[in-house]
Amino acid sequence: MEHLLECLAPILFIWLSVIGVCICICVNNNVSKRKIVFKCNCINLLGKNHIKIVVEHKFVVSSRYIIMSKVQPEYICSCFFTQNIFIKKYKIHVKYINDDQFENEFRQVLRMKGCSTTNQYEEALYEVHKEVSLRKSYHKKFLDNYLYIQRHYTKLYPDIWTLRQTFLDSRFLTIAAEAKKPTQTKESLLSCIMHNGGDITECEVYKMPIFTTELCLMLINEIQNFNNFPCEKTRPNTMNKYGISLDEMGLSQGLLIPLIADYLQFIAKCLFPQWTGHAIDSFKAFVVKYESDLDTELSKHFDNAEVTMNISLNSKFEGGDLQFYSSSLNRSVDISHESNLQMSHKEGYGVMHCGRQYHSALPIIAGIRYNLIIWMRSSTVRNICPMCNQTPDLVQVPIAGDGFIPIPKTRSQCHLL
Ligand SMILES: [Fe+2]
Ligand SMILES: [Zn+2]
Repeated sequence: MEHLLECLAPILFIWLSVIGVCICICVNNNVSKRKIVFKCNCINLLGKNHIKIVVEHKFVVSSRYIIMSKVQPEYICSCFFTQNIFIKKYKIHVKYINDDQFENEFRQVLRMKGCSTTNQYEEALYEVHKEVSLRKSYHKKFLDNYLYIQRHYTKLYPDIWTLRQTFLDSRFLTIAAEAKKPTQTKESLLSCIMHNGGDITECEVYKMPIFTTELCLMLINEIQNFNNFPCEKTRPNTMNKYGISLDEMGLSQGLLIPLIADYLQFIAKCLFPQWTGHAIDSFKAFVVKYESDLDTELSKHFDNAEVTMNISLNSKFEGGDLQFYSSSLNRSVDISHESNLQMSHKEGYGVMHCGRQYHSALPIIAGIRYNLIIWMRSSTVRNICPMCNQTPDLVQVPIAGDGFIPIPKTRSQCHLL
């Protein structure tokens, strides 16, 4: 069957190219070997970051799969340009449409947070203007940077740019194998996580071993090397000034797509069936860095993701625990009665949680903390934008969309829920 597929591949490729679809066929269980029968050279850079598990191959064993990456437009919600703008000094998220609206809605709120003088207000407004103009040029910049980096960046460890099973903790492989069983239940997966070094909580926050310490070290060195590489870099979001986008860097494609497609999506599906919809079909990945005098903590927020995986890459720091709140975007809780859960970091361990659950990062006390964040998204549950909590008003972008797809007019709404 493998030979037949390989023979048919060029014909399929020509035909699929004509209709604007590129396809990668995986013909081996080990993702690091003979993975790609043919490569797509089309300019759809987002396609590389946009994964779609379309069919499980019916002639081969279950762990083999076909990844289809459609040449399709990428979209964001227009609220990206107006909402969730973070003013770090006052730890507040604001909405900005124009100066009058902003003054009406936020002058008083800011005053209560210590922004009392005209100068202070002007400064805050300047920060907002700066962020809005950054966001307007964000996707074009991202594309320019991505193209430049792919041409000029010299990899420190070329080996880690393609996922190998040896990079993964053997207990994680056991957990993922358990999650892949067709008859799997959430209860038995939770028990498997607990028996394999993990930690489960009532808040639906789950910790488990993922990466080996060797991979963590190489990743940090590669990130530092990339950080020193002289090129423009877009930052993953307003809240992390020193983060690195792994999608822009190009590390996501070979390392994280297989990690999500072969392992994480199965775990996420079992633990958060209500959030994974038809499939985890796109993601955003970045590394955050916390250090005294730089970004030290992260205020309470939710993620632009259905399911988040937050992997700790080092251990030489103190503080910086993750704090989870019982409230979530879709569940309002009286703040005075809100219960909290604190989760510490452990090198190589990942914390999986629902993206809409409110959380924060407590201040770092000493050292430097690096975490790899993967925001996993499912287009079929994105019919409500997590950032504005409304039907997304789609805006097409050249790269780095937020995982939305237009809803076909003929499709009944209830199929998407
Ligand atoms: Fe977050
Ligand atoms: Zn929105």
